[in-house]
Amino acid sequence: MTQVSDVPNSPRVFQSDDVRKIKDRLDILDVVGDKVRLHRAGQGYMGLCPFHNEKTPSFRVYPDRQNYHCFGCGKGGDIFTFVMETEGLDFRQTLKVLAERAGVTLLEGSKKRVSGNLHEVMEMAGRFYRSLLSAPEGEPARAYLERRRITTETASRFELGWSGSGWDSLWRTLQGEQVTTQEALDAGLVLEGQRGGFYDRFRGRVIFPIRDVTGRLIAFGGRIVDGEGAKYVNSPEGVLYSKRRNLYLLHAAKNAIKEKKRALLVEGYMDALRLHIHGYSEAVASLGASLTEEQAKLLKRFTDRCYICYDNDAAGQEATLRGMYILQNLGLDVHVISLPSGKDPDELLRSEGGKELFDEAIGRARPLVLQHLHAVRPSLTDPAGRRRGIRSLFEGLAQLQPTVVAPYVSQLAGALDLYPNEFRQELEQFRRGKRDQPKEERRSEEKKRMFVHDPLEAALCAMLWRDDELRRSCRPEEMLPLISNEDVKEIVLAILMESPQELETRWHSMNERFPLTFIAWGGAFCEELEYPRDADSWNTVLVGLARKRVKERVDVLDARMKRNEATIEEMAEFQRLATQLKGGRKGT
Ligand code: UTP
Ligand code: MN
Repeated sequence: MTQVSDVPNSPRVFQSDDVRKIKDRLDILDVVGDKVRLHRAGQGYMGLCPFHNEKTPSFRVYPDRQNYHCFGCGKGGDIFTFVMETEGLDFRQTLKVLAERAGVTLLEGSKKRVSGNLHEVMEMAGRFYRSLLSAPEGEPARAYLERRRITTETASRFELGWSGSGWDSLWRTLQGEQVTTQEALDAGLVLEGQRGGFYDRFRGRVIFPIRDVTGRLIAFGGRIVDGEGAKYVNSPEGVLYSKRRNLYLLHAAKNAIKEKKRALLVEGYMDALRLHIHGYSEAVASLGASLTEEQAKLLKRFTDRCYICYDNDAAGQEATLRGMYILQNLGLDVHVISLPSGKDPDELLRSEGGKELFDEAIGRARPLVLQHLHAVRPSLTDPAGRRRGIRSLFEGLAQLQPTVVAPYVSQLAGALDLYPNEFRQELEQFRRGKRDQPKEERRSEEKKRMFVHDPLEAALCAMLWRDDELRRSCRPEEMLPLISNEDVKEIVLAILMESPQELETRWHSMNERFPLTFIAWGGAFCEELEYPRDADSWNTVLVGLARKRVKERVDVLDARMKRNEATIEEMAEFQRLATQLKGGRKGT
């Protein structure tokens, strides 16, 4: 049960004017007197306790102190707790009831948190946790932090706290500060128990506050200090906090990230914190190893370079591979740091000469491509492993611009026992197959069969791209129906409407890679297929595309005829088109 007046260690950050005014105007004898028949007794009044069953009165009310106490059941408090408990209201509701009774218009409460400023509630909680860390009962937390070599200064610099080990210390404090149940639930600070009571989410834990990029307090992480339970408990996903959209310490790191032109990405709270202590204030943690695209975009706001330093275990290395491609695909230059002897950054930096070792490790950081090769290299020794390894590697490399891979081709080829040329060819083949796959999956069965990114369509784009005259003279109404792929149609339309310069800028700024890659691929195709750059080559492409469209239609009709579904008209159409294909005449 809740008691507002005697919460231990409650940092009363808000001296509520409303509460004071109400207390000034109401007398506890009146409020309690409504429910309990009171008799004068010594300095106070006595009566039968409303909170437990009794025959002889052990309930006392003291008008001088404006509070009550029962010597039978131990309950005590002021007019607020009295109404809360006898009426079964929460603090806000009680505030309203008593304000009305006292004729007080609520100012603070109504203005402040009825508007739902959960960040303010979080700040209250943050202050509460910090105050407990230095309070007598913070001893277990202080001992823990000392064991982990976190000094008092560090704790205060990073606003670390202690939740206390009680069941509802924070909740009682928040109530004292007029926080409603709903707010406390929304902020993720309390949980509802099975029998309807509420209790603190964080108990017996060292608290790490998590701020968003603008510095608003949005979540807490709680590290267990001893005993059973998850190592970390974190604020839940909710109105305030989305784990996938935030990075621990980004607020503190963002300026350093800009200045040093790089971010250091680690897994854990302690890792990020330890790096900051040692002067790497460009460090942030993804909190768990799986970096999301949203987190990567956050980093991209501040820098074009990221060093990943995840744990050396299997999970950390898996996550490194995924994370580095997410970052790379957003246009960041990615390096991966491997730490000696399976240590995480926190452990390494705490150890003797750790800072030097860490600096060396940064110096040895592998660029993305070599990191991926490094990761698959051990599996290349047996045939099955080799297939898996190469597949994994190609999956990754196929996502990269050829210019990113180019500097490492001979190294890659060497490791895979291929000639550089073979390697290039295989990668290019993989790349083509890959690019079509996801789109293909979305298509209907019929389209699936005929859909492949068509080099002719790419060639068409490339020709339009580099030939101003052609852009002016071509006939869109003739050309567009020949294109089977919707994405390509859009590219063609864009080329017809905007200049290549404008488009290049726009696509780059929107991080749209497909169009330029596609056009470049088409350019390569023009060369490869020996289409000279003249009017004839343009016609060759159009004729080629037209034939393809006819061929597709023929296939569809053929299938319908085989299933006995074709109409007379369709059969006639089939005859006509089939003849046309054989004759090689241009069909439209
Ligand atoms: P680790 O298990 O590597 O923990 O998880 P750590 O950071 O090394 O923790 P210490 O050093 O033992 O205190 C890495 C990160 O994954 C998240 C935390 O953000 C942690 O920092 N995590 C881990 C959780 O959220 N919950 C867990 O139970 C464990
Ligand atoms: Mn650790």
